[in-house]
Amino acid sequence: MRIDVVSIFPSYFDGLTLSLLGKARDSGILDLTVRDLRDWTHDRHRTVDDTPYGGGAGMVMKPEPWGAALDELAHSGEPGDTRPTIIFPSPAGEVFTQATARDLATRDHLIFGCGRYEGIDERVFEYAADLGEVRLISLGDYVLNGGEVAVMAMVEAIGRLIPGVVGNPESLVEESHEDGLLEYPSYTKPSVWRDREVPPILLSGNHRAIADWRREQQLERTRRRRPDLLDD
Ligand code: ADE
Repeated sequence: MRIDVVSIFPSYFDGLTLSLLGKARDSGILDLTVRDLRDWTHDRHRTVDDTPYGGGAGMVMKPEPWGAALDELAHSGEPGDTRPTIIFPSPAGEVFTQATARDLATRDHLIFGCGRYEGIDERVFEYAADLGEVRLISLGDYVLNGGEVAVMAMVEAIGRLIPGVVGNPESLVEESHEDGLLEYPSYTKPSVWRDREVPPILLSGNHRAIADWRREQQLERTRRRRPDLLDD
């Protein structure tokens, strides 16, 4: 899978050289490139923002650098080129869930455009729709200073679903949200730690009973912490 990230703070993404995603990049499973939006400016100050038409607080990202960036990244020039999925993180977008991650993990080419300030000139979204499928996606109902942290989270959630990125695919199955429930509690040695015992059933060797217990724990936790997940 190819992922391009455009940001005015590319060093935010240095963390993506670490751990499983770093390995996936090294092995070529994940072709991830982070680009500086200012590389598509042409003035001495490498300007990416300007005052909003109609007035109001803050600055708006200018359309020209975004247009040039999208033109370059959307057309790879390679034969068999497919239209990319172009994602703009935004608190005004659809909420990102495990289902979103699963869907996006099937795409050939993702482009993430990180907005800052009061956002990006609206015409950029219209223009991007000519080049690919545009999605505005929110990490949750709170406001960040820009899209970078949201894109870090999305790239990690999507990247780990690409076949070969997580060594043991079974570990993807038994996780919170994969089956619509929260994950069951886990324990390791020692069996007694600071007077706290591991639930005896886990030491019983009865795999059927352990599976039933874990399911019950998933349901109980989900009811208590996230009843909204059980609504439908
Ligand atoms: N940019 C600012 N806030 C955001 C959020 N909650 N999700 C995605 N991008 C954002």
